[in-house]
Amino acid sequence: MKEELETIRKNALESIGSTKAGADLEAIRVKYLGKKGELTAVLKQMGSLAAEMRPIMGQMANDVRASVEEAIEAQSAVLEQRAMEARLRREAVDVTIPGKKLTVGHKHPMYTVLDEIKDIFISMGFEILDGPEVELADYNFTRLNTPEDHPAREWSDTFYLKEDSSILLRTQTSNMQIRAMETRPLPIRVMAPGRVYRKDEVDATHSPMFHQIEGLVVDKGVTMGDLKGTLNAVIRQIYGPNTVTRFRPHHFPFTEPSCEMDIQCHKCGGVGCPTCKGEGWIEVLGAGMVHPKVLSGCGIDPEVYSGFAFGMGLERLALGRFKISDMRLIFENDVRFLNQF
Ligand code: DAH
Repeated sequence: MKEELETIRKNALESIGSTKAGADLEAIRVKYLGKKGELTAVLKQMGSLAAEMRPIMGQMANDVRASVEEAIEAQSAVLEQRAMEARLRREAVDVTIPGKKLTVGHKHPMYTVLDEIKDIFISMGFEILDGPEVELADYNFTRLNTPEDHPAREWSDTFYLKEDSSILLRTQTSNMQIRAMETRPLPIRVMAPGRVYRKDEVDATHSPMFHQIEGLVVDKGVTMGDLKGTLNAVIRQIYGPNTVTRFRPHHFPFTEPSCEMDIQCHKCGGVGCPTCKGEGWIEVLGAGMVHPKVLSGCGIDPEVYSGFAFGMGLERLALGRFKISDMRLIFENDVRFLNQF
């Protein structure tokens, strides 16, 4: 029995020393010390020993158990330490590698201009509206007094989404006039910026998608004088207090009378230069008094209420503001260009 115990000790300690994982240690513990383990099996034979040998063998068995347990514990500590070292090696961070530079973006120059313009209108008591770019022809044309046979509705000018021409990508933000009158209580004072779409070829001053800003005021006693006063105030805040403006008669189906507003060329002071194409003036927006048919179509009595409306191109404003000569630069999103602003 003594030899048996010694063999158990020797074998157990050897296999413990060569383990590589915690699970192996557990298997060894079960193999030798478990209920059905080798040491337990030896202890079961104690009954067959002479009485005086029992305490001696008992003592020895306890020694074996203790030394196996100790060895397991020590090896377990060694394995843990090894695992930790391996992990540290695996997850090592090289703090000497130079960091990656994060480039922080900034607002697109056109939206900088738009935010300025919004602030101007908000300071004048206007509400800012957002509206659909996919629109019913009814809102984009018909209810703006632009009937079926109007040239602006040509297939060659407009992106229709349905064969029957009932749904389209809006060609102007003027659709928001109707939507505002339908949803807002009187008096109305709104401005609505957004994208519009036309079948135009791309060149220095055209793009099939561009931005407009629509404005609408409806109240009792609104006159052409209010239109001129408001637009002069807005344009002078955008282009500077000494900006010279003029209003030229024009035609739009949904306003009567209609006009276009020009600013005197800031480059040449009105003499004529390449910037103003020799005109001395630069057109900045279309405007007019809301047509009585448009008002009554929205359930507003034109005998009681009147209003003015205007629409301007945002890209053109941004080009003028930052002295950019080609509209394509606004859309191309070349960061070398955009980073200048
Ligand atoms: N929607 C017109 C266009 O795209 C611009 C315009 C003209 C808007 C007169 C208006 C307006 O509100 O009153 O050419």
